[in-house]
Amino acid sequence: MAVFSPRKFSFSIIFLGLMTVLRSQAALDVHYYDRTCPEAEKIIRYTVLNASMHDAKAPARILRMFFHDCFIRGCDASVLLDSTPQNQAEKDGPPNISLRAFYVIDDAKTKLESACPKAVSCADIVAIAARDVVAMSGGPFWNVLKGRKDGRISKASETINLPAPTFNVSTLIQSFTKRRLGVKDLVALSGGHTLGFSHCSSFQARLHNFSSVQDIDPTMNPEFAETLKKKCPKPNKNGNAGQFLDSTASTFDNNYYKQLLAGKGVFGSDQALYSDYRTKWIVESFANDQSLFFKEFATSMVKLGNVGVMENGEVRLNCRVVN
Ligand code: HEM
Ligand SMILES: *[C@@H]1O[C@H](CO)[C@@H](O)[C@H](O)[C@H]1NC(C)=O
Ligand SMILES: *[C@@H]1O[C@H](CO)[C@@H](O)[C@H](O)[C@H]1NC(C)=O
Ligand SMILES: *[C@@H]1O[C@H](CO)[C@@H](O)[C@H](O)[C@H]1NC(C)=O
Ligand SMILES: *[C@@H]1O[C@H](CO)[C@@H](O)[C@H](O)[C@H]1NC(C)=O
Repeated sequence: MAVFSPRKFSFSIIFLGLMTVLRSQAALDVHYYDRTCPEAEKIIRYTVLNASMHDAKAPARILRMFFHDCFIRGCDASVLLDSTPQNQAEKDGPPNISLRAFYVIDDAKTKLESACPKAVSCADIVAIAARDVVAMSGGPFWNVLKGRKDGRISKASETINLPAPTFNVSTLIQSFTKRRLGVKDLVALSGGHTLGFSHCSSFQARLHNFSSVQDIDPTMNPEFAETLKKKCPKPNKNGNAGQFLDSTASTFDNNYYKQLLAGKGVFGSDQALYSDYRTKWIVESFANDQSLFFKEFATSMVKLGNVGVMENGEVRLNCRVVN
């Protein structure tokens, strides 16, 4: 009898195709380290908590680090690699002014290498640490999917692909869409600016000589503009001067959105979310309902953590150098 059956054959092709799709979506797993490093999350949480108790700037810096990592080459810990004589790395690219707190990731990595050598990738450490800083600052908790591999490439020239604080909603949406993140993700993740600080250089253009007809960005609350102008005079001798991104900058809450309603967003890219019909209603819904914001932020962080995940990278032994 004929062994070959066209029906069975095409069915198995479809089945194989389906498996490939499912596999590439299911590459990350909540239980990834259950056998190889059951203590991984505990070690990371302890390290991040201890560092944050000594260094109040660490939580915001770690959250921003995750965003940078995932937006350039995917979540592959490329942001952690140090420059070498042959190569200028991402962390030495232009918008690195508040990219710090790498030492926290190094500390966690050292502890992980002694607890379970060669198991936990640097990209996963950053993803877990970003969740932990949000949770310990009063924000939501979510299960981090794990199993990312670390990349071998980091180029300062690629940081040009990060969205800039001068972007409008169209260019922000474009930037997020390239990473398969939607409009809701854009608004929810921008809520990361509920934590942390910005240097004057990132919003200076809104305060002085904004356009040929207006000195100050008209979408900014005038009193807020005066406050910022005092902190950021032109010329400005103090390179460390700047502004907290919301009025409760060490608490993860929905104050960021309330400030947008009041015209008190620090970056043009923040305030723009309240000026455009595509995003304004989402800003309003998050300003009115913190638990909705928390839920959507958690969902969008999981999506951010899936951006460009590598399947054939390595588990770096030292997060600053390729193996
Ligand atoms: C939507 C596009 C975004 C733009 C244009 C943007 C831009 C910026 C800029 C210019 C700074 C200040 C840098 C400085 O002057 O020190 C900053 C800080 C920060 N960003 Fe964003 N960002 C964006 C999205 C995000 C996302 C998605 C997150 C995380 C979920 C995030 C988290 C942070 C945090 C926590 C800080 C404060 C860092 C610190 O205190 O050191 N940002 N961002
Ligand atoms: C806690 O953090 C401090 C400051 O960064 C550091 O010196 C110390 O070694 C940390 N302790 C542990 C057990 O990680
Ligand atoms: C930022 O990049 C510059 C070079 O562009 C480098 O000199 C500086 O050390 C970097 N800063 C941090 C905090 O990494
Ligand atoms: C947004 O910015 C881009 C690039 O600067 C510009 O071409 C576009 O006209 C702007 N769109 C809106 C709606 O302002
Ligand atoms: C403001 O910008 C215009 C060009 O847009 C420039 O000619 C002028 O010199 C600037 N003024 C100051 C005070 O920087």
